[in-house]
Amino acid sequence: MSQEPRAAITGSGVFTPSQVVTNDELVVAFNAYADRQNAEHAGDIAAGTCEAIAHSSADFITSASGIEQRFVLDKTGVLDPARMFPSLPARSDDEPGQMAEMALKACGDALGEAGVEPGQIDAVICAASNHERAYPAIAIEIQELLGTSGFAFDMNVACSSATFGIQAAADMIRAGSIQRAIVVNPEICSAHLEWRDRDCHFIFGDVCTAVVLEHEALTDAPRFTIDSTRCATQFSNNIRNNDGFLRRTRDQMEDRRDMQFMQNGRKVFREVLPLVADHIAAHMAEAGWHADELRRLWLHQANKSMNDFIGRKVLGRVPTPQEQPNILQDYANTSSAGSIIAFAQHSADMAPGDKGLICSFGAGYSVGSVLLTRM
Ligand code: COA
Repeated sequence: MSQEPRAAITGSGVFTPSQVVTNDELVVAFNAYADRQNAEHAGDIAAGTCEAIAHSSADFITSASGIEQRFVLDKTGVLDPARMFPSLPARSDDEPGQMAEMALKACGDALGEAGVEPGQIDAVICAASNHERAYPAIAIEIQELLGTSGFAFDMNVACSSATFGIQAAADMIRAGSIQRAIVVNPEICSAHLEWRDRDCHFIFGDVCTAVVLEHEALTDAPRFTIDSTRCATQFSNNIRNNDGFLRRTRDQMEDRRDMQFMQNGRKVFREVLPLVADHIAAHMAEAGWHADELRRLWLHQANKSMNDFIGRKVLGRVPTPQEQPNILQDYANTSSAGSIIAFAQHSADMAPGDKGLICSFGAGYSVGSVLLTRM
């Protein structure tokens, strides 16, 4: 819904981990793991009671997904064929959590760009696919470390967490309960990915993004006015992670495949594309926006063919790389952070009056879209 007064995004920031895993490195580790497993179970494989694990291929990964590399917090654990899982030692209660630590850099950059002091922020929303603990909220720890005022809370709408968080913050600003907020998306996807599953081991990477939102009347600075937001959900089991305290029993905790990210990728592809295309079309129509006015699409970065399909649907033609910037090749799927990385890295060139669309989609299913005008 388009509403006055308006909120605006006045700053954005990205924390990118220092460690990179290329497709070639990933495939070498996966194939070494497969060879070990196959050797260990050679008897069962020969007897036909167990299937051999097939090798992965860097060419398949690039052509099926558009991903060329990903950033991770710990590549040693991920690439160790005997481990295939990041080594992120549990922190003591007196140390900053992993997610809060990532958030500091992204939030610091977003605050710096906005020219806002931490004490001027009334709310922190930590919106991400997975949270490293149940409580206290990660957002409250970030509030404490940054020195922001007011309140903070966590929310989770999987890959749509950032856009749903932006709508929540923008609504609070419009309603007058707060004046400024940070929406921060620390995504440690490497810890909920099953690196031993050939069908999905290449999909995710780690990153943290943040945006500062302010009541538009508080700033004359360059900004992206939030003209309208729209969120939608529709239940599906096709992307699911069963990790949760009720599911855990002591003997199942360590090795149940459904305790990590699972997806039926083909169904996701088929079902989510029309959902997203229809959602964006309805949102733009409701806001009275026309496709030929759109200067930029900052889409969720899950899969290049999906993004290309959505871009074509929205614009009615193939978007140029400037119109629809992809960051997937460098970052892989970073869940809720993907569209915000694209926004943070590909918005500085926009001129006053230019219009753009942030859109995320993913597990739930969930779709969130945000219509922005550069002011
Ligand atoms: N290396 C080599 N071959 C592989 C492979 C790998 N790592 N993974 C799968 N394959 C093989 C499969 O075994 C299959 O072989 P077959 O045809 O002989 O059976 C073939 O490649 C195609 O596999 P499939 O899983 O059907 O691939 P796909 O073309 O559907 O692409 C995804 C896979 C995951 C990239 C794609 O389905 C997708 O992007 N889906 C949506 C994902 C998404 O957005 N998820 C949201 C997460 S938040």
